[in-house]
Formats: sequence, C-alpha cells, structure tokens
Amino acid sequence: MQLPEPDPAERDRSLRLVARLHDEIAASHGEIGFDRYMAIALYEPGLGYYASDRRKFGPAGDFVTAPELSPLFGACLAGQLAAWLPGVAPCLWEFGAGSGELAVQLLIELEALGFASVQYRIIELSAALRARQRATIAERAPHALDRVQWLDSLPDRFDGIVLANELLDALPVRLFELNQGCVLERVVTRVSEAAQTSAGVAPGEASPFALQLTSRAADPAFVQLVQARLARAGWPQPLAASGYRSELGEQAAAWVASVSERLAEGVLLLIDYGFPAAELYHPSRASGSLNCHYRHRSHAEPLWMPGLSDITAHVDFSAVYDAASQAGLSCLGYGSQAAFLLGCGLAQRFTERQNPSDPAGYAQAAQALQMLVSEAEMGELFKVIAFSRGATRAPLKLAGRDRRAALEAGDSAACA
Ligand SMILES: C[S@@+](CC[C@H](N)C(=O)[O-])C[C@H]1O[C@@H](n2cnc3c(N)ncnc32)[C@H](O)[C@@H]1O
Repeated sequence: MQLPEPDPAERDRSLRLVARLHDEIAASHGEIGFDRYMAIALYEPGLGYYASDRRKFGPAGDFVTAPELSPLFGACLAGQLAAWLPGVAPCLWEFGAGSGELAVQLLIELEALGFASVQYRIIELSAALRARQRATIAERAPHALDRVQWLDSLPDRFDGIVLANELLDALPVRLFELNQGCVLERVVTRVSEAAQTSAGVAPGEASPFALQLTSRAADPAFVQLVQARLARAGWPQPLAASGYRSELGEQAAAWVASVSERLAEGVLLLIDYGFPAAELYHPSRASGSLNCHYRHRSHAEPLWMPGLSDITAHVDFSAVYDAASQAGLSCLGYGSQAAFLLGCGLAQRFTERQNPSDPAGYAQAAQALQMLVSEAEMGELFKVIAFSRGATRAPLKLAGRDRRAALEAGDSAACA
C-alpha cells in the first residue's frame, strides 16, 4: 500500500489517538471490538477523523461526496422534497451534514420552489463539522441561518423529513469471519514490543502504532446475529464456509429503527452506498466491504495511522428496509442514485443551468454529472431509499425500475 506520507502534525495526532486506543484496549482485557475501534478512530473528541479540524471533503480532502461534487445534487433532492413537503410538517432533519454543502443547496433550492419557511435541523456528532456547517451557511445563505438549528439528538417524537447522505456507511461495524462454519469475531489487539521483536523487528524499532486484528470465538449473541444476517442473505444453514470475512452493521440498523420509531408523521430519505443482503453477503464478496480513504486514495488497512483515514462499510439495505418496516413505515421506493437523480430531472437541470459561453465550467459540470450517474462511479453503487408514515404517499422519483422487491424477506438470491 503506497499512501502519501502524513505531515508531522498529523502523525503526532495519530500517535496520541493510538495512546488512547492502547488505554482502551488495556482497560478491556486486551481487546476491543472493531466497532469500538472505529468509533474512537472516527469520532474521539479532538483526535478522531471526523473530530479533527483537518479538511476531509472535496479536492483538498480525502474524498468527495455527491453534494460536494455538484449543486445539481441538491437541486434534484429539492425537487423530490417539494413533492413531499405539502403533506408534511415543513421541517427537515439532516443527520451528518458534513461541510454543510447539502444544507445550503437545499435551503436555496427550496426557497426558489416556494418553500421559504422550511425549518432546517442538523444533528451532527462532530463539533468541528458543526462549526464548519455554520460557517458554510453563514457565507452562502446568510438570510436562512435563523431557520437552521443544531441539535444533539432527535426529540422522542417529531414530524417532517429526515435525510442523511453517506451517514450509515460511517457508523461503526463489527467484523466476523467464518471458520468451518463457526463464527469468529475479529477484534483489535495491541502487538507488544516483545511480539514485534520476536517477529523480526529490530530491538528499539518496534512501532508505536502496532495494532492488529485477531480472530477469536464470538459470544453467542454475536453468533446469532451473524447467522441471522447470512440466513437473510440466503446462505444455506448450518453454515459450512471457511475464510469468509465481512461486517455486521448493527448500529446502522439500530439508527434506522430508532429514527423510524420517533417519526410520528413524515418521510425518511437515505442515500448511501450498499446492497441488498444477498449481494452484500454474497459468498464471492469474501473479504467484506470495509474501505478507507486518505487523500483521495482508497485503501483496505483500517488500522493504518488511526484517525487519519475515513473508514466505511457498505450499507445492508435489507437491514435498513427491515428496521423501518418493523417500526411501521411504508417504503416509497428504492433504486440506484442514477435512477433517482435522472428521475428528478438531472439531465434537464444540467442543460438549463449551463452557460454556453463558459466551456471550462461546462466541462467541469459535465464531469461531475458523469460521476454522479455513471455505473462505474457513484450511479449504481449508491442507492436511494425512502419511507413514510402518515399521509405522504408520493413515490420516490425513479427513472429506472423500483428495486424494493430485492429487499423484501424471502427474495434473497440462492447462495450455493
Ligand atoms: C461521510 S460524512 C457525509 C457528510 C455529508 N452528508 C455529505 O454527504 O457530504 C458522514 C457525516 O456523518 C456524521 N456522523 C457520523 N455519525 C453520526 C451520528 N451518529 N449522528 C450524527 N452525525 C453523525 C459525521 O460527522 C459526518 O458529518
């Protein structure tokens, strides 16, 4: 793996985070679950990836998200929201608002569509990003700032539209491995200096970053959860495979359940990359979907310099569907990001907004559009799903087919 060398300040911050991880591992009898590791690596105040001041989104950061790529993303979303808003309380609840880019786009676009009094609530874990979101809105939509409020959590009951773009993939996951059908959990442990020297590292050169993933027998509750996920994905039971590794996104499913239960009347709209369970846990995807980003390089080493890379796992949309349905929500549609954006008039919006006398701007906008919808980029890997409770029944705008049948229990592709 060839990654750009972090600067001394970044290295130092990562070392401080490693010291924090070492304390946590020592206090937890020598190991922590990967979900705990991921929570600390991403969100530890002042040190975690999302908690630091370093720029994460956009060309100068580690990755780009759809609203960072093009304002047409927000324009399309606003078109969809406008179909729901007349029937729900005029309040948007955005989780994990990143740089605040989508909030700005939606506030401006909805105003243009006649929804100028919509309230905007942001629930954001990272204090550094809250400050950034406020600054983005103050700069680009200052007149709307008094309609925006930051909350620590959702109220017990609320009405309106909840939206989250690339939130679920950032929620911590646990890791598992199958060994002759037995479920093992992969946990994070420390490699002692003695173990490093006996493995050939010269004395005095043992790495202070030395963490490793270790497979150990899983507790019965975790075994049951993994068996249930693989059964939902169509795996024959009892399990017999060896060497298969993947993730379990308990926190993403719990988040969907909790938000759905509190939604008294309104819509839940989620955009993220992922698959139905049968695809996510297909036997051919034997090393899981964990993915890290550092300065626009993807890598598969989540323990590399903790706190410097984003760590993500693909979303299990069957689990999302089950959690929302069990809380009594109805699905309004599920499809690819390309089908959604084209269904919301992306192509027409692009044509209308380009300035023919600016060829460079045109080329850049066309490239962004290509990334949003191309099958090889975000168009197919990213999915959009919406649910509702109450009067709002307007379907998700999809140019292609609605694929929700792939999420319904019993639809799993057979896995031999
Ligand atoms: C990958 S970023 C996506 C940012 C933004 N939605 C975008 O599309 O550009 C994930 C965001 O979710 C936030 N986040 C993660 N867990 C959260 C939680 N439990 N509640 C609220 N925000 C959370 C992160 O701090 C970050 O802002």
